[in-house]
Amino acid sequence: MDSIISLCKRRGFIYQGSEIYGGLAGTWDYGPYGIALKNNVKNLWWKRFVSDREDMYGMDAAILMNQKAWVASGHVGGFSDPLVECSNCKRRFRVDQIIDEDDYKEDVKKFRNFVHLYIDSGETKKAANEAIDKNYKISEFLSLSEQKKKDFLNKVNEIIPIANIAAIEGILGQIEKLESYSGKFARFYLNQKVTCPSCGVKDKWSEPRQFNMMFRTTVGAVESEDAVSYLRPETAQGMFVNFKNIMDSFHPKMPFGIAQIGKAFRNEIAPRDFLFRVREFEQMEVEYFIDPKNWEKYFDMWEKIRMDWCLEIGLPKEKIHIREHAAEELSHYSKRTTDIEFDYPFGQKELYGLAYRTDFDLNAHSKNSGVDLSYFDEETKKRFIPHVIEPSVGVDRAVLAILTSAYVEDEMNGEKRTYLKLAPSVAPIKIAVFPLLKNKPELVKKAEEIYVILKKQFGAVEFDDNGNIGKRYRRQDEIGTPFCVTIDFDTIEKNAGVTVRDRDSGKQERVSEKDLIKYFSEKFQ
Ligand code: GAP
Repeated sequence: MDSIISLCKRRGFIYQGSEIYGGLAGTWDYGPYGIALKNNVKNLWWKRFVSDREDMYGMDAAILMNQKAWVASGHVGGFSDPLVECSNCKRRFRVDQIIDEDDYKEDVKKFRNFVHLYIDSGETKKAANEAIDKNYKISEFLSLSEQKKKDFLNKVNEIIPIANIAAIEGILGQIEKLESYSGKFARFYLNQKVTCPSCGVKDKWSEPRQFNMMFRTTVGAVESEDAVSYLRPETAQGMFVNFKNIMDSFHPKMPFGIAQIGKAFRNEIAPRDFLFRVREFEQMEVEYFIDPKNWEKYFDMWEKIRMDWCLEIGLPKEKIHIREHAAEELSHYSKRTTDIEFDYPFGQKELYGLAYRTDFDLNAHSKNSGVDLSYFDEETKKRFIPHVIEPSVGVDRAVLAILTSAYVEDEMNGEKRTYLKLAPSVAPIKIAVFPLLKNKPELVKKAEEIYVILKKQFGAVEFDDNGNIGKRYRRQDEIGTPFCVTIDFDTIEKNAGVTVRDRDSGKQERVSEKDLIKYFSEKFQ
């Protein structure tokens, strides 16, 4: 990662945000090549998800929205991460980043199994071992008499080695927090099993609490509660609140979708891994409105489109994995979610989500705003709140996937070299044009002519006459330019065409001037 970050800075792709003031954690600034790459990614997305299709409506909503929208969407109440403080060194951490999640889940499972076992089959240890895969009825446990709960608590130590009765007693009222890594059980677990990554002390953890990740701000001159708004943490809500506008202006037939690309902001507790987890990023999202009876069909449709797009931007197939969310992992609004995870240098992590959001959002906005957001189906004469399939991807995570998988160190002509094996579809510069020597006016003139022709046709073309030719190749390799065109004496004296050098193999071939546009058009197809 360090080599990639340093290449990005050296070659003008991505800089640390506010660098001359020591930076601002979780922000990055895109330089000239970075924005070119990013725009290519966004344009390809827009083409595939919006403009190539008949059933999509693009839009660009305001980042600031009426606070009521964020209450309705559940973000004011629930958009939070579990945060814990080490009371020895006062450092704060996201719980899910300092625990072994599988181990934690295993302990939660043991705890739940025990509850279940107690209700179902008496209090024997044997039954505990048999109860592993059953469903747990926590609510039933909570409704037990105090005496029965006490009996249960007395048994706990036999089954869950990390537990003790005092801790479990505290957890009883907080069972809904078990999976969110907050509350007393999480604290108890941390104190038993986790040392502070900063000071190495065990046993000094505070009770993990949920921390809302939305950036709060006030709109207008008066800082009252009524003036509170938030920088949007997802673009999705801008589309839900415009559902009726789009319906009224365009009268679309179901299924249809609304799409947008735009900034989103999350006050991440621990931004990290370069562009992967940042506080300001861009999302590309579709809200696709459907009749619920067809949801599986449209889920599959978007799954395929999403995969095709990942391949189109040049991501290697073997680094792409589809992961189904388990039931207990699903967001409050989702009935099914599959993520595309990508092999980043720091592990296999989420790149692209696809969620069946049901009618949760339109229902919530309908209720909270008092505006009817239903749809009338002319064919079936049925009126209903549409359900939603949502493909959602972060632009910056896509850029990072592209950069990290394209980064190659190899040897060419006995020398070490670094290059970005970018697909031409996303490369910031597609062709570089060089005169072999800078001080030969006839070479420079010819190179400029060819540069103008290619630039007019392909846009992202660069002219370079700086330094020796080897150095120019190395620079273009590092920014991922697929082809370099060199004009030499044979071009002029023997009318022998130009040389075209291929970035990956380093091989050169001569191509006649008049065939150049055809040659590159085929290469870029
Ligand atoms: N509207 C649904 C939604 O926002 P999400 O999984 O929270 O779902 C969607 O975010 C995508 O946005 C993720 O798959 C990821 O690519 C990107 N994303 C989320 N948080 C991010 C962050 N802190 N930094 C960079 N990208 C992020």
